[in-house]
Amino acid sequence: MKAYRLVPGAGIAGLRQEQVPERPLGAFDVRVALHAAALNARDLAIARGQYGGLTGDAITPLSDGVGTVVAVGPSVTRVAVGDHVIATFWPDWIDGEGTRESQVRSFGAQLDGTLAEQLVAPETALVHAPARLSDAGAASIACAGVTAWNALFVQGGLRPGASVLILGTGSVATWALQLAKAAGLHAIVTSSSNGKLAEAERLGARGVVNYAEHAEWQDEVLRLTGGEGVDLVLEVGGQDTLARSLAAVRFGGRVVVIGGVSGWGDVKLSPGALVGGKKTLGGLMVGSRRMTEDLVRFIDTTGLTPVVDSVFPYAEATNAYERLASGSAFGKVVVSLK
Ligand SMILES: NC(=O)c1ccc[n+]([C@@H]2O[C@H](COP(=O)([O-])OP(=O)(O)OC[C@H]3O[C@@H](n4cnc5c(N)ncnc54)[C@H](OP(=O)(O)O)[C@@H]3O)[C@@H](O)[C@H]2O)c1
Repeated sequence: MKAYRLVPGAGIAGLRQEQVPERPLGAFDVRVALHAAALNARDLAIARGQYGGLTGDAITPLSDGVGTVVAVGPSVTRVAVGDHVIATFWPDWIDGEGTRESQVRSFGAQLDGTLAEQLVAPETALVHAPARLSDAGAASIACAGVTAWNALFVQGGLRPGASVLILGTGSVATWALQLAKAAGLHAIVTSSSNGKLAEAERLGARGVVNYAEHAEWQDEVLRLTGGEGVDLVLEVGGQDTLARSLAAVRFGGRVVVIGGVSGWGDVKLSPGALVGGKKTLGGLMVGSRRMTEDLVRFIDTTGLTPVVDSVFPYAEATNAYERLASGSAFGKVVVSLK
């Protein structure tokens, strides 16, 4: 079968199209003929050698994908041939809080991923795809979508009417904005681009701040919330934004730390930044299969259609990586595998 292979750290130019042998199926394994795969910031980090926990052996990259079940092992009961399925990010994290052990292996990193003609996965790592999304939309769910779901509704614990600050307009942020709109949250979005802020308003942002024009953007967020601050911040910025995110959250509010698009370096924080306002800071790592299933059900119920920036043919997967690396994408960057 066809698959891309990449030695972590070899760069985007290190992506190679190869013919690889089909993996045999174990008793509980499922063979999925993939239709589409989506890229995430992590996939760039892996290509650039900026992602820990890998051996240095070549992998088939990408965690997110959708396809049709074409064969099942003799003990499989969760899915059947012909089912339309997506792969979960962590095949071993089924439900509950997750443990160190359940968050060791993920597709496209320690396990071969979805930038290929086929994926062989344990049946427990598959979820039925939403009924009416395009392949590109369904392929966008597993990492960015589930991360945004977890941050807003599981770890963030938000209820309709609550306020959330979403940093930037990357793929987690865009998912979060669409979920916030569909769930009746008051979303404020920051971006370096007025064009992207206009798009964010079109998608339902109730307040917008250009962080390139307002270095002290947390003050703008306080102004937009009558001096109170937001209930929750989805903190994807990292070293340059974390302290400001804490300042933008209300008394008793929460900052969920997701990423580091501005860098993963040290941050200077005073204990008073948390204690004084009774604020909570916590990290997360994508989400469980249960969260993926809950998100799929929400998509089916609300009709939410994730924003897709672009779809590249299989032969042009390196261009998909370049598109993500450009920082210009708004929505998911997808590779068609049909
Ligand atoms: N913990 C987890 O489970 C998890 C899951 C998924 C992703 N992540 C991490 O979360 C981060 C975001 O992922 P992603 O896929 O959404 O990335 P992405 O699509 O590459 O996000 C890029 C966007 O980040 C925004 N940005 C850059 N610098 C910023 C700053 N100083 N302040 C605010 N926004 C800034 C930019 O928005 P504008 O162009 O609008 O300025 C840019 O378009 C990455 O670090 C990723 O590794 C973590």
